[in-house]
Order: sequence, then C-alpha cells, then structure tokens
Amino acid sequence: MRIGIASDHAGYRMKEYLKKRLIELGYELVDFGTDSEDSVDYPDYASKLAEAVSKGEVEKGILICGTGVGVSIVANKYPGVRAGIAYSDEVAELIARHNNANIICFGGRTMEFEDAFRRVKIWLETPFDGGRHERRIKKIRDLEGRICGNSR
Ligand code: RB5
Repeated sequence: MRIGIASDHAGYRMKEYLKKRLIELGYELVDFGTDSEDSVDYPDYASKLAEAVSKGEVEKGILICGTGVGVSIVANKYPGVRAGIAYSDEVAELIARHNNANIICFGGRTMEFEDAFRRVKIWLETPFDGGRHERRIKKIRDLEGRICGNSR
C-alpha cells in the first residue's frame, strides 16, 4: 500500500518519525514535504497530499500540523477525501470503522509521537464496517456532487 505523508513545520519532526517507523513495517511512503522546521503554510502541503488521495495516486494519507485542525480543514475540501483527527486510540479505530477515513491527521505540538504511530497502525489495520455507514458516506458523496459539481 502506498501511503502519502505531509506536514508543515510544526509537524515536521513527527512526520519524519512516523515515516521511519512505517517504512520499518514495510509500508511504501510518499513524502509531500515539508523538508525542515522552517516556517511554511500548512495549506500548501495538506493540499498536495489531499489532491493525491482524491485522484487515487496514493491510497491513504497522513497529515500533521501543530494541532491537526488546519490540515484536516484543507484535506476535507477535496472530493472523495475523508480526513479525521485521531485524538485517541478509540477515535483512530472509529474513523476507519465508521467514516472510512482515507486521511488521518495529528497535532505535532499536541500529541506524543508514539501515540500517533500506534494510532496510524490501528487506523491502517481496522476495516470499514460498511452497512449503515456506507449509506452515510454515500450521502457525503451526494453532497460533494451538489456543492462542488464533482464527486469521487
Ligand atoms: C503553525 O504555527 C500552526 O498554526 C499550524 O501548524 C496548525 O496548527 C494550524 O492549524
């Protein structure tokens, strides 16, 4: 599975940590930047990754900023993207099980690196439940179609 990863300066160190740990587990990581702790604007990096997920160039993505909020706002503008902030292990499981989230977001300044790594694994290993949740995701797709004239 190809997994994209991107961050701003506030998430850079967590990005590097998660990349290393996930490569050790055998995942293929595609890094969309940033490349240092120099100040940048999170929409520039979150949009690169979200576009790749939206177009199917990578299957899933990981986004990190200071809180996880800015990158999630940007990512959820893209058709077919369902991004959730994994602020606990339970939420990491539920964004896979219920929301079929294809992007997981973290706060590099508000979360521990080890917690984020554990939550990425939970999210990747948890299947989507389907059923009534599929109906709800179809409603999101319909909304995208009506609002943006586009849906995936
Ligand atoms: C950068 O200082 C910070 O505002 C950004 O990383 C993020 O937390 C925004 O949501």
